[in-house]
Amino acid sequence: MKRVLIDTDPGVDDALALIYAFKSPEIKVEAITTVNGNVNLETASHNLLIILNLLNLTEFPVIAKGEAQPLVKPLIDAKDVHGEDGLGNTRELMTSKGELKYDIAECQFSELSADDVILEMIDTYPYELIIVALGPLTNLSKAIQKDISCFRKVQSVYLMGGVFTEYGNITTNAEFNVFVDPHAAHEVFNAGIPIHIAPLDVTHQVELTGDRLKEELIGREDIISQFISDSTHAIMTFYQENVGFYGFHIHDALPIAMLNHPELFMSVDAHVQVETEGELTSGMTVADLRKPTVTDSNAIVYVEVDADSFLETYFKTILS
Ligand code: RIB
Ligand code: CA
Repeated sequence: MKRVLIDTDPGVDDALALIYAFKSPEIKVEAITTVNGNVNLETASHNLLIILNLLNLTEFPVIAKGEAQPLVKPLIDAKDVHGEDGLGNTRELMTSKGELKYDIAECQFSELSADDVILEMIDTYPYELIIVALGPLTNLSKAIQKDISCFRKVQSVYLMGGVFTEYGNITTNAEFNVFVDPHAAHEVFNAGIPIHIAPLDVTHQVELTGDRLKEELIGREDIISQFISDSTHAIMTFYQENVGFYGFHIHDALPIAMLNHPELFMSVDAHVQVETEGELTSGMTVADLRKPTVTDSNAIVYVEVDADSFLETYFKTILS
């Protein structure tokens, strides 16, 4: 059983990753912290309550709100991809009885901020807690700034972010999560903790098409299947118009799979640094992946995935 804290900016792919985490028998979600990213902090936090309600939980993890803006860089969002509400414009959907189709769970956010909850959870499960970071790394960097000796008791950090051998998805050379807060990413990569990275290089190998989604959900009336269908129209339309296929990359589910099924991946040791000031390259993650191993490695970068097996196990797990 892997105890995890998930830091997230829901976001459609975050939602699909959270469902995967909760449905994975290998994982115990002890806490969830929200961060500004795809949408602003309040929207991301409201979306988390919608996702928790979908899961019909008998008990809830600790939940806490984090940082509303990056350490230094200006606010940006990804509403063009994830919809105005961050969940594919599902907030406005109503049932035939005139009720909200996707309501929020009745659970309260902690009085503590995300950085304090991160440190508290690490202290509760020293050298056992795994942090899974699915958005910009602002909350993690705040925790590092507050108490790096405590933070270094984290078992490891699994994060979706960065890009090394192909184009970025927010600028030519930067991936969204790192681009939003490169200063935070720099702090995390240099905190002296074990880091496992799912960059675009590996998340782009999994193309979840509309046809595949339809095939997996056909005939299913459960609320999670309905949510997946309802919440993915906007992102798949964005991809059709901007990326060239009707579907999307389920980026944030990959770090969860790296925990559940590491055998599906190939990885390399690397020394990763982040450009924080470049006028044209801010948010660029830099590592020389040509060498199979490096002496000054600060991260394990996942470079290949068995995409078919990933999708098979993903749907088997979330639709169980
Ligand atoms: O670049 C993809 C990442 O940015 C994903 O985490 C997605 O949810 C967005 O936050
Ligand atoms: Ca995300």
